[in-house]
Amino acid sequence: MNNLIATSIKYQDGSLLVLDQYQLPHREVWLPCESVEAMVAMIRKLQIRGAPLIGIGASLLLARLAEQGMASEALERAAATLREARPTAVNLMNCLDRMLAALHAEGPGALPATVERIFHEDIELCQRMAMHGAGLIEPGSRILTHCNTGSLATAGVGTAIGVIGEAHRQAKEIHVYVDETRPLLQGGRLTSWEMRRLGVPYTLICDNMAAMLMAQGKVDCILVGADRIAANGDFANKVGTYSLAVNAHYHGVPFYLVAPYTTVDPQCPNGSAIPIEQRPADEVRGVGGSFGEVIWSPEDAPVFNPAFDVTPAKLVTGWILDTGVLTPDAVGAGALARL
Ligand code: MRU
Repeated sequence: MNNLIATSIKYQDGSLLVLDQYQLPHREVWLPCESVEAMVAMIRKLQIRGAPLIGIGASLLLARLAEQGMASEALERAAATLREARPTAVNLMNCLDRMLAALHAEGPGALPATVERIFHEDIELCQRMAMHGAGLIEPGSRILTHCNTGSLATAGVGTAIGVIGEAHRQAKEIHVYVDETRPLLQGGRLTSWEMRRLGVPYTLICDNMAAMLMAQGKVDCILVGADRIAANGDFANKVGTYSLAVNAHYHGVPFYLVAPYTTVDPQCPNGSAIPIEQRPADEVRGVGGSFGEVIWSPEDAPVFNPAFDVTPAKLVTGWILDTGVLTPDAVGAGALARL
């Protein structure tokens, strides 16, 4: 397999390495990943995360195992285990389905070339979304974003952050409000890190400050990513996205999601059919990461911890895809179901 290098994953000279996002931004540590068990554990701990990247990571591991001589049946079992790592982002299932189709058609030898295509395609998809999305951004816009959707979450420039980076590159003089994104702080830890690297002016806020900024007229649009888009345009994204969409609707702030076709699930009729991952209680009782584990609630506090929520299509202004921007009318007429 040829070397494949992204911001947070790389296949280099026979080794698969993952930038440990759990330790960012305080430590930049690359970890080797050689087994299905290790990849599943890394995906569950969000050391490797983001809808496109978990599909790419799982597929890279499968290709590596094929290269090491693993037989077809064992590769199928490995794919089945990897598929169970997280339930919501459909990119994981889509990528593995593509790998399995190649395995069935041409055998294990086809997997390295297939993952190379997936990897390079994701870079290209990010670039297209960035261009389509940047066309919607007015000069001087103040953009609010949630979670992390950048080069840490994809093989390329990202989805919502890809648009932000492109608008900045086009000198649109944007400013970004970054939701810290409780409970795992992907905004505070990862998006802030990416804004800094891109040189985009930004302000970090707690999630519960977004409504106040909208009421003060300080947010011109909201850009978020997605983990699964249903055929009717409802979509799952990091928990907290739904309340942003409700607040945006109330305040008349345009609300866009940015995602590649690999995040669309045409078989899924609407948001209520999207499986939502439930995560460990201690993530809400306190906080972890490179700054150490802290529990601030009573240690047995009962907890509700869904990793994602569903935003209904009726709250979305536009779906920024790699193919262009879909309007509510187009989505209502079934454009996503036909992708
Ligand atoms: O739990 P995470 O950090 O994997 O959640 C990620 C998100 O919700 C992102 O917005 C989504 O995957 C899009 S990433 C381009």
